[in-house]
Amino acid sequence: MTNNNSFSSITDKIEYASGLENKHYISKQQFKSEKNTIMFQNWCGVSFAKDIPEIGDVKPINFLGLPLLIIRESDDVINVFENTCRHRGMQLVDSSQHAKKNIRCPYHNWCYALDGALIATPHIGGVGKHTHNNVNPKSLGLNKIRSYIWHDIIFINISETANDFNEHYAQLIDRWRDFEKPIKFGGENASFSITLQANWKLAVENYCESYHLPNIHPDLNKTSKLEDHYDIVDSDLYSGQGSYKYHQLSDDKDNVFPDFSGLNDKWRLRSEYIAIYPNVLMGVHRDHIFSIILEPLSVTETKENIAFYYAEELEPTEQIDELKKKNLSFWKKIFKEDIHVVEGMQKGRYGKKFDGGKFSPAMDRATHNFHAWIAKQLI
Ligand code: FES
Ligand SMILES: [Fe+2]
Repeated sequence: MTNNNSFSSITDKIEYASGLENKHYISKQQFKSEKNTIMFQNWCGVSFAKDIPEIGDVKPINFLGLPLLIIRESDDVINVFENTCRHRGMQLVDSSQHAKKNIRCPYHNWCYALDGALIATPHIGGVGKHTHNNVNPKSLGLNKIRSYIWHDIIFINISETANDFNEHYAQLIDRWRDFEKPIKFGGENASFSITLQANWKLAVENYCESYHLPNIHPDLNKTSKLEDHYDIVDSDLYSGQGSYKYHQLSDDKDNVFPDFSGLNDKWRLRSEYIAIYPNVLMGVHRDHIFSIILEPLSVTETKENIAFYYAEELEPTEQIDELKKKNLSFWKKIFKEDIHVVEGMQKGRYGKKFDGGKFSPAMDRATHNFHAWIAKQLI
């Protein structure tokens, strides 16, 4: 069991701090404990709203062992429930589908509306009697999970104890105020996923810093060099890096994606990449946003679900489709370049003498910020 002393060495000033010890990356027991103290207590990204575009679309997910059901109730309302029938606990939905107006349990046909209300209990009072005095349907709606949607990401807070999302991340929302507007999922060439043989925290740590840029992303380093980057460490709840040299993607006729409207001029050449603790990574640019939801599958396996978004006014022309393909393959290459090092850090974590490592006080500030946050959650 880690004592508070070992955490104080992590939350110490970066000059003196050490990193999280190996068990945070390789121990099943620690994974379980972090599930309860980190993932279930905070706001976690679990899915994208774009996956359920039509009213009545439902999507079952398993988040760290919890069976959840995401339902689009209306254009503006998406709810997350337990995917568990209130009668005998049957899993309600086993694959993404369009439920039209209600969701029927496959076991005894109890039926729920899109807002989770229990609306039919066939034969509950005996054959042909669909009510019973001792069963109040009003108290038997689907169990609701606290949720909030930001930039198309569905966040949930299992414990219901986190501050309101807007309050919790007020500083980040303010930092990216210019992007607080409708964004449009890029469609066919705008999503993919990668499964990493690594603990989810290593994906966060690698995303936070630009120190590895020259070695791991030599092509990217030609246009946006290491020295063009700055750290983002102004909050306890997120960290990352930005670049002063964002180069817009263009095709051979110099077509580019349209910008998001009303951006401050500073975004002309700037881009920012932030890890929103615990499990969402986002990148913003004048003409597109991408989001990565980290899905921890086990202590040593993580799925990255990645989606790209553009300005609302994007017309679906042939040129735009080509640009989208080009943008997707540009980023896919970069994300794939990271796999080797993230998985390599996982392998290194079995070194018995490794003590969590030594941060560079100049280059690892964003990573240290994340370790300090984890340590504070666990104290
Ligand atoms: S378990 Fe769902 S209706 Fe019986
Ligand atoms: Fe990288």
